[in-house]
Amino acid sequence: MIIAPSLLAANFGRLAREVERVDASGADWLHLDIMDGHFVPNISFGPAVVRTVRPLTRLFFDVHLMCSKPEILLEPFAQAGANQINIHVELGEAVTPLLWKIKSLGKKVGLVVNPPTSITMAQPYLDRIDSLLIMTVNPGFGGQSFIYETLPKIQQAYAWRREKSLAYHIAVDGGVDFKTAPECAHVGADAFISGTALFGRPNLRAAVKKMRTIVESAGSRVSCPRAANGMDREPALSPRLS
Ligand code: DX5
Ligand code: ZN
Repeated sequence: MIIAPSLLAANFGRLAREVERVDASGADWLHLDIMDGHFVPNISFGPAVVRTVRPLTRLFFDVHLMCSKPEILLEPFAQAGANQINIHVELGEAVTPLLWKIKSLGKKVGLVVNPPTSITMAQPYLDRIDSLLIMTVNPGFGGQSFIYETLPKIQQAYAWRREKSLAYHIAVDGGVDFKTAPECAHVGADAFISGTALFGRPNLRAAVKKMRTIVESAGSRVSCPRAANGMDREPALSPRLS
């Protein structure tokens, strides 16, 4: 199981110390959200920030590009120290060349699916990705509520991986906390990107350990019925009211 604190929820006023806190936390990946103010209605930070924090840790840098023109950003982020670069399937015909470019830069390849997008959009790329990132909120901001209607996508991703004997990670991102993370693990997720829930705890190391324990427990009993009718239904956009 991969636990990946999302730096977006860190205190940007003391970013270096926050990265060091993650380094000491026992986490597996550091998730870095790159927002361009166009693909999503928010702006975060660019390659210069990634390059600045790179020497502070040996953690795996998981870069999530929420950008309309990722083709101009792949090399800068690769050079800044990304280990994996995720691009969105919503980019359409740009996806294939982007995946090849990421691979040619020697980086792991991630593909992201937004809540309103059908998981079938990712199907043609499954044999050439290292991680399938299922957005469990609409991207752009931290601290949003988990969208439960995305859970069947995790099941579908898990079923495909098993059927095709592939090895991509099934990652979830958005509203992932101590309640929703085990629900994702229970249906097949194995990488948990979490901002607010982890950084909100004074003891990040204890929070990472707690999340790891609960997802390992839930993940050991994955419930994966065969992809049923309606499994790929496009999810509603509102969170479950409960
Ligand atoms: C949302 C980002 C997430 C975000 C998650 O657009 O992709 O990585 O940091 O934050 P939380 O865990 O607070 O929902
Ligand atoms: Zn993200």
